[in-house]
Amino acid sequence: MNQEPIYEGKAKKIFTTQNPDELLVYFKDDATAFNGVKKGTIVNKGMLNNKISTFFFDLLGKNGIPHHFIRMLNDREMLVKKLDILMVEVVVRNIAAGSLAKRIGWEEGRKLPCTVVEMYYKNDELGDPLINAYHIKALNLATDEQIRIMETYALKINDILTDYLKNKKLALIDFKLEFGIHKGEVLLGDEISPDTCRFWDTETGEKLDKDRFRRDLGDVEDAYEEVLFRLTGETVK
Ligand code: TMP
Repeated sequence: MNQEPIYEGKAKKIFTTQNPDELLVYFKDDATAFNGVKKGTIVNKGMLNNKISTFFFDLLGKNGIPHHFIRMLNDREMLVKKLDILMVEVVVRNIAAGSLAKRIGWEEGRKLPCTVVEMYYKNDELGDPLINAYHIKALNLATDEQIRIMETYALKINDILTDYLKNKKLALIDFKLEFGIHKGEVLLGDEISPDTCRFWDTETGEKLDKDRFRRDLGDVEDAYEEVLFRLTGETVK
């Protein structure tokens, strides 16, 4: 496919393809937390996140969310539309957890009375600080219209995923999205996986996401496996 590596991130590598409008995403087993300070490997994570993300992009596409995903190529690789990534990370929260629980002084697990949408400046050097629409405009990271579209999609994605996951006995606590521009259109990009979402078992409250790695809770791979299994009935072992 005439692949040239163009970017290596913490969890994925990006390659060009023969088509200038399309890129290949390779999912690694590498895991980092706290802006790269904690490093490790989650066995089979690349495969699991590729398959889980494929599932979620398909689901969202069927429900009217435009995204970059074209198709899965093999266990660790997917083909996507090339995006000019907006340097904004959009986080949607239903239940207080992680950095929000800390910031507002709520215990983790307390239901938020309304969905909370947050924007972060995608900038590793600064540790991805929380920003608002004024900062985004001042930094020229996105237009008002693009901010509005990201917010609208983020809330719609929350409804689609929350509904779907409920039937799989998974509570969607919070998640992070990235968007980019392709031929003038805002598309959902990046990945949707236990790296970028918090999933708790609705009956036991068990964490089935990257917090198992961040907090040294053990059974990290099993948690990712469990998410894939509940979504698709598939295993990678
Ligand atoms: P937070 O509570 O640490 O701010 O995380 C909120 C959500 O965003 C959580 O589902 C995990 C996800 N997330 C990422 O995808 N990448 C990151 O670098 C961080 C910090 C969080």
